[in-house]
Amino acid sequence: RKVLTHRDIARMAEALERQGVRVIRMDVGEPDFRAPSVVVERAYQEMKAGKSRYTEPKGRQELREAIADYVKMKFGADVKADQVIATMGGAFGVYLALASTISPGDEVIVIDPSWPIYKSCIRYVGGRPIVLETRLEDNWEPNLDELNEKMSAATKAIILNYPSNPTGKALSKKTFKGIVEIAQDKKLTLISDEVYADYNFTGSGHNTVLNYPEVSYVLISSFSKSWGMTGFRVGFVISDLDRANKMAAIQSMLITCIPEFVQYAAIEALKCLDEAKRNLEVMKERAEAVCKALEPLPVSFYKPDGAMYVFPRIDVEGIDGSEFAVKLLEKKNVSVAPGGAFGNYFDYFRISLGQPKEALVEGVKRIGEFLSSMS
Ligand SMILES: Cc1ncc(COP(=O)(O)O)c(C=O)c1O
Repeated sequence: RKVLTHRDIARMAEALERQGVRVIRMDVGEPDFRAPSVVVERAYQEMKAGKSRYTEPKGRQELREAIADYVKMKFGADVKADQVIATMGGAFGVYLALASTISPGDEVIVIDPSWPIYKSCIRYVGGRPIVLETRLEDNWEPNLDELNEKMSAATKAIILNYPSNPTGKALSKKTFKGIVEIAQDKKLTLISDEVYADYNFTGSGHNTVLNYPEVSYVLISSFSKSWGMTGFRVGFVISDLDRANKMAAIQSMLITCIPEFVQYAAIEALKCLDEAKRNLEVMKERAEAVCKALEPLPVSFYKPDGAMYVFPRIDVEGIDGSEFAVKLLEKKNVSVAPGGAFGNYFDYFRISLGQPKEALVEGVKRIGEFLSSMS
């Protein structure tokens, strides 16, 4: 079986676009929002003022203090600036977390469906991903007994990503706490990728690992999604001081630090609470519109609690997700990410909400036309 990744579909979509075809891009996990203008202005002004030099590897004290204040304000979490590292996006944070935790042969539990980078990064640092599958029928709820069964003497960490890419699932406080307790009991590190923390549609608040400082943890966060700052390449990690120092040493060796003027832009972004809130509202409205448009189609899906995706299963006999994504692109000029990219979910596809609502609704309409032509 040929499993295509969302990069494969993106490449095909880009090739069509170069031929002048207008494609409705629902494959890319990138919000269409522009960075707040004050953020852009600050980066520009600081660069002009000569703030384009090396900083300490963890990032400027001022930024790390601003991040510590921010997580205090948002989650009541008590962290010191020295526990914070400004990284090259959440993606580099994932690498730092794994590289500082995993030795060759160690196992890391990944809850599928999952962002594909986790497995490739675990393998890259010499570890072995151990997959805990979750199911649409269970509302994507991880089964903690099954989680316990996945443990071995070689298990060193669990990666969490809630709200989830690709399912949009957020965990209840009870389940989150249950996983924390398992990690504590087995002396594992919880690596919690919370880059979608600001996209929580439920109103019931985001569960963060920062509220459980008793467990060994690395929090991964990013400026990319909340403020439409993907190309600034800035995120942060927070952990206990020892691990933070270890991660800072790796960052120092590989990239020295992130650009100084970007660090100032990040300080400015942390003040843009209204923009983040507006982006959340827009994303929530898009999720609702897409779910409504999907309702009459021969698909089953979990209505997302957060993040910026919907992950439907195709309920038409004999359709494979990769083939579906390619044909949908060719026949209807709509691009989606095939479910197989996220694990053993070949009948699924992922819709990214990083487009205006009208485009998304039109895209779903075309998906419906395409599905009825196939059944
Ligand atoms: C779950 C998840 N984590 C981390 C990232 C990394 O984003 P960035 O490196 O831009 O912060 C992404 C981006 O798609 C993601 O979906």
